[in-house]
Amino acid sequence: MRLTGRTAVVTGAASGIGRAIAIRLAAEGASVVVSDIRTDPIWDGLNTEPTTDVIVSAGGTAIFHKADVSVTDDVHSLIQRVVQEYGRLDIMINNAGLVGSHNILETTEGEWDRLMSVNLRGQFLCCKAAITQMVTQEPVVEIRGRVINVSSQQGFIGPPDYFAYAVSKGGVVQMTRQLSTDYARHGILVNGLAPGRIITGTHPGEIDMTDPVLTYSRARTPYPRLGRADDVAGAALFLSSDDCTFISGHTLPVDGGWLAY
Ligand SMILES: NC(=O)c1ccc[n+]([C@@H]2O[C@H](COP(=O)([O-])OP(=O)(O)OC[C@H]3O[C@@H](n4cnc5c(N)ncnc54)[C@H](O)[C@@H]3O)[C@@H](O)[C@H]2O)c1
Repeated sequence: MRLTGRTAVVTGAASGIGRAIAIRLAAEGASVVVSDIRTDPIWDGLNTEPTTDVIVSAGGTAIFHKADVSVTDDVHSLIQRVVQEYGRLDIMINNAGLVGSHNILETTEGEWDRLMSVNLRGQFLCCKAAITQMVTQEPVVEIRGRVINVSSQQGFIGPPDYFAYAVSKGGVVQMTRQLSTDYARHGILVNGLAPGRIITGTHPGEIDMTDPVLTYSRARTPYPRLGRADDVAGAALFLSSDDCTFISGHTLPVDGGWLAY
């Protein structure tokens, strides 16, 4: 129970990585606001229960708050809700994101705008609202708050045909560095996660193990399997916990070694 008494918001927490993070933080004692534009998971194997139901039936504390991270009013009401319900915001997990895979010539302005609005503007709005709250709080064990931004391994490399997505995720890596520099002196730690290929509902065909993207990803990942949402949740727990002190501005790959070569 490493997070007893702490409060957390997880965006994009209905499905996939965000869902696993919300469940893990709650299992460690955090009170969690599960936020998303939908309640039911896009895909989670056989378990189709909403994330809050999974948490509450396991004895944890969670509420659902509907918010589109690209909409300013939604993000403000999300942060107001966590303060209203739980008194403060200790951990902000900015996870909501969309994927897209085209080269620049195939990328329409609509696709560019859609990805930037969720992956980059959404992270900007959520970081801004979370930090606005965190700077007003008293520190707990030196820390006023922790922000964790979910980027991607593709934010560090130029993967073929992931133009807008990789640009947006590279922006998230830089946002994390910049905010860490600006807010470390306020006792706010800002770190990131860069998942490798994780099996979730994000990519069409991802559940189909004959999918060429999956076949390539398995061959490209040194560890002999693809990632699981729980792999990322474990790393999120570390960055959220008191074990993570004096670490800020870094984006931790959770990629089975993909970025090592
Ligand atoms: N799965 C992977 O292989 C992988 C790899 C690297 C990075 N990531 C990143 O991890 C994060 C989660 O990915 P995932 O695979 O779990 O995806 P997912 O599609 O399984 O889940 C994403 C969730 O975000 C929600 N969402 C989408 N747009 C939203 C919005 N505007 N506001 C609020 N919520 C919104 C969706 O409803 C969904 O529940 C994303 O940022 C993604 O880019 C995933």
